[in-house]
Amino acid sequence: MDKLKLQQEILKLKKEKNAVILGHYYQRHEIQEISDFVGDSLALAQKAQQTQADIIVFCGVHFMAETAKILNPQCKVLLPDMEASCSLAESCKAEDFAKFKAEHPDHMVISYVNCSAEIKALSDLICTSGNAEKMVRSLPKDQKIIFAPDKNLGGYINQQTGRNMLLWNGVCSVHDAMQAESVMQLKAEYPDAPVIAHPECNPALLKVADFVGSTKAMLTYIQQSSAQRFIVATETGILYEMKRENPDKEFITLRDNKHCACDDCAYMKLNTLDKLYRCLKDEQPEIIMTDELIEAAKRPIVRMLDLSRQLGIIK
Ligand code: 13P
Ligand code: SF4
Repeated sequence: MDKLKLQQEILKLKKEKNAVILGHYYQRHEIQEISDFVGDSLALAQKAQQTQADIIVFCGVHFMAETAKILNPQCKVLLPDMEASCSLAESCKAEDFAKFKAEHPDHMVISYVNCSAEIKALSDLICTSGNAEKMVRSLPKDQKIIFAPDKNLGGYINQQTGRNMLLWNGVCSVHDAMQAESVMQLKAEYPDAPVIAHPECNPALLKVADFVGSTKAMLTYIQQSSAQRFIVATETGILYEMKRENPDKEFITLRDNKHCACDDCAYMKLNTLDKLYRCLKDEQPEIIMTDELIEAAKRPIVRMLDLSRQLGIIK
């Protein structure tokens, strides 16, 4: 089936089954085109919690679909490709993390949402890149904290807040591999273009960035900036939304310098239009979790959402 036909069939099935398609900014453009809602991990979690649909087809990675199931357990949650994992989630196994946590009994645990439900169940509070700094600032200054699993995001928050959180040694394989040198070369070529970067990037890159923020925060920055072009240090799927919102602005990516596709998240790109169609048709692969795990993982996520509302980060 060609792209348009496939998109039409998906939309038809979606209506018949009272399903909703939630898509992350890093998804393939043809998936974002037909998603009911496209957003960052925080906004998608909120949408998943609020939807009245019978089925959520989550076009993102496994931990995001799992979060949707935790927040809306009556809903059938489908993920087009079950192999769509995340290097951060992979870096932090529950058994190892439980041991690490037990070694620091006086610390509370804040986990970045990019982790498995089992890690969430071992956490006191969840954060996303869109609210991490505010979540940490909301805690007493002398509170000892373990931050997992992203050492780059955790290090950046430490630097911004003056805290000394204990960091789990995980990284996003995509953002961590982006090089400050590549950015500096692009900066020399396009001196008028501000560098915008996701906080999962390595510290050397974040040091040369003009703006650091979550996917949603980067989009807001571009809209509010008078600059005409931007050097973008994040996964390239987001270019679809950047160009859609700002048709007159220009976006330069690290691949423009290195001529490689290293800024693609292989996990995110596992979801294809074809797999989305089949998954909606067959109603699988489905996210299945025990009630106990859902309950245990829900507590720190709900705490994050409540706190985010109180702090005015979300409505
Ligand atoms: P956001 O929270 O900004 O959507 O990012 C999720 C992610 O996986 C970034 O690599
Ligand atoms: Fe995980 Fe990085 Fe892919 Fe985001 S871009 S899903 S953090 S591997």
